[in-house]
Order: sequence, then structure tokens, then C-alpha cells
Amino acid sequence: MSILYNESKKTFSLHTFRTTYQLKIGNLNYVNHLYYGSTIHDEDLSFLIRRYDRGFSGNPYDSLKERTFSLDAQPQEFTTQQQGDFRINSIEVQNADGSFSFDGRYVSHTVYKGPFTLNGLPTAFARETDTVDTLEIVLEDAVTKVRVTLLYSVFEEADVIMRAVRVHNGGDGEIKLKRIMSFNMDYMNGKNLDLISLPGRYGQERQVERQPLTHHVHKVRSGRGISSHQQNPFIALVERNANEEYGECYGFALMYSGSFLAEVELDQYDQARLVMGINDRLFSYPVAPGEDFDTPAVLMTYSHKGLGGMSRKYHNFIRNNLNKSKFVRDVKRPVLINTWEAAFFTFDDVKLVEIAKAAKGMGVEMVVMDDGWFGKRDDDNSGLGDWYVNEKKIKCGLTELVRQINDLGMKFGIWFEPEMVSEDSDLYRAHPDWVMEIPGRHAVRSRNQLVLDVGRKEVQDYLIESINRILDSANIYYVKWDDNRAITDLWSNSLPAERQGEVSHRYVLGLYRVMDGIIKTHPNIMFEGCAGGGGRFDTAMLTYFVQYWSSDNTKPLDNLKLHYGSSFLYPTCTMGAHVSNASPMVPLETKAAIAMCGTFGYELDATKLKKKEIQACKRMSNLYHKYYDLNFFGDYYRLVNPFEQVNLVAWESVAKDRSEALVTVITVNLTMNGPQEYIKCRGLEPNRLYTIEGDGEKYTASGMALMHAGIPVPREVPDFTAFIYHLKAIG
Ligand code: GLA
Repeated sequence: MSILYNESKKTFSLHTFRTTYQLKIGNLNYVNHLYYGSTIHDEDLSFLIRRYDRGFSGNPYDSLKERTFSLDAQPQEFTTQQQGDFRINSIEVQNADGSFSFDGRYVSHTVYKGPFTLNGLPTAFARETDTVDTLEIVLEDAVTKVRVTLLYSVFEEADVIMRAVRVHNGGDGEIKLKRIMSFNMDYMNGKNLDLISLPGRYGQERQVERQPLTHHVHKVRSGRGISSHQQNPFIALVERNANEEYGECYGFALMYSGSFLAEVELDQYDQARLVMGINDRLFSYPVAPGEDFDTPAVLMTYSHKGLGGMSRKYHNFIRNNLNKSKFVRDVKRPVLINTWEAAFFTFDDVKLVEIAKAAKGMGVEMVVMDDGWFGKRDDDNSGLGDWYVNEKKIKCGLTELVRQINDLGMKFGIWFEPEMVSEDSDLYRAHPDWVMEIPGRHAVRSRNQLVLDVGRKEVQDYLIESINRILDSANIYYVKWDDNRAITDLWSNSLPAERQGEVSHRYVLGLYRVMDGIIKTHPNIMFEGCAGGGGRFDTAMLTYFVQYWSSDNTKPLDNLKLHYGSSFLYPTCTMGAHVSNASPMVPLETKAAIAMCGTFGYELDATKLKKKEIQACKRMSNLYHKYYDLNFFGDYYRLVNPFEQVNLVAWESVAKDRSEALVTVITVNLTMNGPQEYIKCRGLEPNRLYTIEGDGEKYTASGMALMHAGIPVPREVPDFTAFIYHLKAIG
């Protein structure tokens, strides 16, 4: 059992294989946080909390004039509201009598086997081989009877704890949640912590920023209705001296695809508090008597082995515990070619078959028909929402087109953008009230499209029905699910004026219902997510999509940074990456080596390639297959940080049994007649001998030599040369 309750000390210890998390039912039945970090077997760490008379920090009335007890200075598992704690809080509720207060005290707890699930929101699951236990702690406000249940699922082998909260209105009148975070995490001393986040923009997603905590509230958020290009719903708090290999690192990934918020405050006593959850901006959610409200889950992990250690825990967890699709592991994902950058909106069935024929020689196994095949869709002004085949373009019909592609021995994939509608579409003409538009105003256009009110059941049903009809009409193997704008006009015609604060969250719940109705009912179709590239790449989406289109930016050198940043959380097998015509100065082989750092494919017009290029692509497609398992399921190491001024960028994938490794090196700035460069490997077995191949030489070296001395990378090679080193243990 990974959850231990010590009845006399009133402590709960949550043990994973390498971490311990401890909390305690403390003074006046407030639940205190005691510890999170490397495994500790002590059952009561409350000696860590010292109490002082803290000026201007109030004392709860029932502490009976005990001036040393203030919630402002206690580490807590969840916060109160208006009970003397002035720090950022995890709950803001307006009670039925109009007051803003919450004073949650422990009333009960339960422990059970397996992870918790949430109403309408995705969560991680346990495989048969996983040991997972859940602790639920109920806090209740004695006056309002509002209950908050703290949920903790402990994934023992993975070193991950999944958390969320459930609010129950046990009172007689309706309450309004103004802010409800998924968890609260207090650090007794946060002075030496750095905050890492993954900010970006369209085409430049998930760059890496690191800054020391200062005495402010640091905010990482999206208010765009999608988890966004601008911020990812992930942050890490790491020791100031933590690097790739050493130092304490705490990761927090929110399983939510809408507007989110993470706040970290370093307070007056250098305590740090972190909260994360649904963005409270434009949020106000009523909960009727007897009803519940569930927050999205958060996945937290801890490693004392640096940023790399933290990332590898996430990679394992995302591969194992988020998505049950057979395409995650059991069925090899095909090399694909996508028509977007080849033809944009200008194609027909004949052109698609031509692309397929040419691509076959490149080792491509699947053709993906991107935007433009449906309704009246010749540019981005029309057609969205009309999910029926445009027979002017696909003259032979979809079933027949797919048959022709299948006859070439290739699979077929298709593109949808379910949540959107064009004003020039049959759907909009029939249901103008289905869009999000604030009364008396015109909706903001973005890419000339409007957003459907996906929180509405009739909209959800339309999408499920119309998209499933297409999916069931032909032998479709793959779907790219796109979303090409942010949400700007929060309004639902299906809700009364006083309930408009629900719209943003209802949209996300509605979206998950639509995805359940389409994705979960088609286990034989492989689904890839996309939002103008990686605008909604998050751990909730990965419960549906086996992979996510990382970015519309296919420039290979930009992708070095994009993949580096994404790899903080996401494993290679989830990151869509393609070879395209962008950056002609970069050799095809190098583009492919970089795309192999994700799910591999092409995004170009195969009919225009020269014979030599087709052959090079074929070699690269074969290489992708050859190293598929190593690349997708090995342990990933970031070897060089491309955000620094470097001459080479490198990363490595090591087989779980350390018998093999793949080290990819890209030369980005090798000056003429410069010094010899070495790339030091990681994660190998020190005393084993490995053969190394990849730059024309073949030699043998110990793991020790490869990790401490490194691989010498040839100099005087053309700019942007890629070396893919294969290391194979002898014996
Ligand atoms: C988005 C996607 C692209 C492509 C276009 C089609 O921008 O990220 O890959 O599918 O939409 O409109």
C-alpha cells in the first residue's frame, strides 16, 4: 500500500518508489502539508513546522488567542478564504448568503485501490502492472456545509501523484465558485527555487524560460480558451543549481485544454505557494445544493536527478498511463505525407493519387488529405462546419479515393476542424445561434472563422454525428483534428445571463464529450491533435491523441529549440514532426534527422522531388523504422541546449536495458579550422563496451569513456550536417 495513515500522529504518507509526500491533520483540524521530496520513512515530519507570533497575520478565533497559530504562516494542503491567510488561494467561493469565505477543516478520509476519475474530465489510468492507490480527504466548512474533497492518486512505479479537488455544496442555497484550483502546494522554503515555464507563440511553441522566484506572484496562464501557443499548462519548480543531471525538480502538468492559470508566490517568510487550475478570469460557476464540481487533474512528479530525471518520469508516464490507443505502442505508426504544404486548398482526387504514387517511393505509408476536401472550401473564408465531401474536388467520392490509395498499398488519413464554423457555410446559415457571439456585438473573426458553442449539447451531437458519418464511410486510418483560432467571445445562447461565467469551462467539457464520441468510438483510427501547430498540446489532449502536431513551423533549426522545450514534458512519440521544403540550405538528411526526434513524416509535394531526393527520403524513412523502438520508447537525454550559443546540438535515446543508444548530433555553427568538439553521452552502462557507428568510422568504447570523454564529432563538414550515431553494447 502506497498510502500510510498513522492514526496517532494523524499523518498521511504517500509513497511512490522514490518519493514521499506527507500531510497531517493538524491544529484545529486544518490539514497541513509537511513534505514532498525523496523517500523518507519517518511517519511524522511535523517537527519541521515551527510556530511564531507573526505580526499582522491573524489567528483563527478558535485558536483561543494563541497568537502563534496563523494560517498565513502554515503550510497547507488547500487554502481557506478570509481566514487570515493573505497569500494566493486555491478557492474563492461566494456563499448563498453573499459572503466570500471558506474554512475547510478535516472531517473524514478514505483510501481505495486504483486512480480517481472525474466527471467529464480526462484522468490518467492504471495499467495492470501498476500499483495505484487513492486518498480522498474531505474538508468541510461548518457554517456553509461546503465540502472540498482533496484527491490524491499515487502511481507508485511512475513516481507520479495525480491530484484534483471536488467541491460539494452541502448547504441549502446555491454557491458560486469564483476560483477553484486543482491543488495547492506549499514549500516551507522557496527562496532557492527557480520557476521554469514553456512560453512561446504561433510557430515558436514551448521555448524554455527559467527565472528565480522573487517576492511576487508569478503567473503563467492562458486566457485564450485553449491551453495555447503562448504558455503550456506545465511548470517546474527547481532548485537554483539544478541542471540536466543533478538537483531537485518538481514538475506540475495540468490536464486541461482550456484557459488555465498557474500562480507561484514567494511570501514574506520565503515560503512558496503554488496553485494551478482553471483560469479564474471570466469564470464564475454556480453549484446548486447537493451538486458537485470537479476540477481538472494535475500530474506532479519529483526527481532529485535534475531536469532530465523529471522529464524522463513524465515521458514514461505519458507513454504508459494517458492513452489506451493501440497506436501508442502496439501498432507501429506509419510514415505519413501531409498535403497541406504541398497543395494547400488546391487539389483534387487525381492530384492526391499522384502525390501518393510519388510518395510511395519515399517509403511513405500513409497519405493525409488536409484542409479543403469538404463543403465549399477553396480558401479560409468558407466551408467550415459542413462536414460532407466536396464532390467538385473529390470527384470519385471519398470511399473510392481511399480505395485507390489503399490499392497502392498505402493508408489514408483525413483532416477536420470540428469546433469551427465559417459564416459562409450551410451550418452557419441553419444555426447562426450556435456560434459564440456576445449579444449586440459582432463576434471577433480570426482566420475568417467563428467558434461554435461547443458547450451546447445540440452542437456536440451535430459534430459527433456528422464527423462519425464521414469516418464510417471509408477506410480511414488516421485523423488530424485541428483548431485554428483562440476563443474571444465568451457567450452561450443556451445559458441565461447570470450563468455566462460557465461558458469557457463548459466549452472544454463539451469538447471532451465530442472527442469521447468520436475518438473513443474509433479505436482503429489513429488521431493526431493540432491547433495551428502546437496550440493545444497538453496532457489532457494526449489522453485522446497519440501524437500532436508540434508546430506549423517546419524550419528544422527552429525545431531544434521546439523539440528541446517540448521534451521537458512530452516524449518523442507524441511530437508531430515533418520534413518540408522550408530552409533549403539545410540538407534533406538533416531535416529528417531532426524530424525523427518526433513522429516522422513529410509535408511537401512528392511529385516535385528529384529522383535523388526520393531515394534520400526512402533511406530516411527506413532509418525511422529501424530505430523506431529506440526513438519512441527509450530514455531521452537532452545533451546540448540549443538556446545557448553552441556549435552543435545533440540529444540521445537510450534503450531501457541500456544495450543500445541513438545519439543525434546536428552541426549548427562549426567554424573553419576550429577545435575538436565532443559530445558526452548519458545513461549508458559504464562498464559495458559499445560499438559506435555514425560518421564513417566504426570503433569500440566503454560506456564510461563515452559518458566522461565523449564522441569526437568530425569537423570540416558542410553546414548543418547531421550525424546519427548508433551505439550497440557488445555481448
Ligand atoms: C493549421 C494546421 C496546418 C494545416 C492548416 C489547414 O494551420 O496547423 O497543419 O492543417 O491548419 O488549414
